[in-house]
Amino acid sequence: MDCEKRAAIRSFVAVDTAPEVKKELAALLEQIKKRTCLSAKWVKPEQMHFTLAFLGEVSPEFIEQAKVQLEGVARHSPRFTCRLEGLGAFPGASKARVLWAGISDGEKEIKDLQKEVVRALTQIGYVPEKRAFSPHLTLARLRSPGDASFIKDISFQSSSFPVTRVILFRSLLKPEGPEYTILKEFPFGGD
Ligand code: 2AM
Repeated sequence: MDCEKRAAIRSFVAVDTAPEVKKELAALLEQIKKRTCLSAKWVKPEQMHFTLAFLGEVSPEFIEQAKVQLEGVARHSPRFTCRLEGLGAFPGASKARVLWAGISDGEKEIKDLQKEVVRALTQIGYVPEKRAFSPHLTLARLRSPGDASFIKDISFQSSSFPVTRVILFRSLLKPEGPEYTILKEFPFGGD
């Protein structure tokens, strides 16, 4: 039996929003659903987040090392304020696969934080993605590429919220959709 594979933990590092923002995101989803009959897997607002690094299936030992690295990053990271703003689609609105919300306030800070997280994880063997980091909060994954040009008619701006920690999540793939659970939170210690 392949024990290593059995013990693997699918995980990712992310920042969360705030309860009031999740309510705004729930309202946004309702607004989007009224405008389209695209078939999609809609992300539950309580599960929405900004991924900084997707670790994939890793060993429990790697998770322990990652915790040490993330603690180090968080200790030196200052809190910052974020605001979600604007909608987008990957790879583009005409043949969209993913619908997302972008960021206005806090964009530079989240990019800096992502760089630090990647730098720290690279020291323990994480292989960073080659493509540039594009901060986004996934709202929906379309079942097949579709026309999402309606998003340009929806204006969205969230309340601003404080980003005070990074979170190491476990992702359990279930038939009804992924379930994310917190493995550990790393509160920021910088000024
Ligand atoms: P996404 O929102 O752009 O889909 C948990 O799956 C998180 O990790 C998601 O937010 C997802 O980003 C991100 N992620 C990045 N690369 C991934 C991959 N290859 N497979 C699954 N999730 C990935």
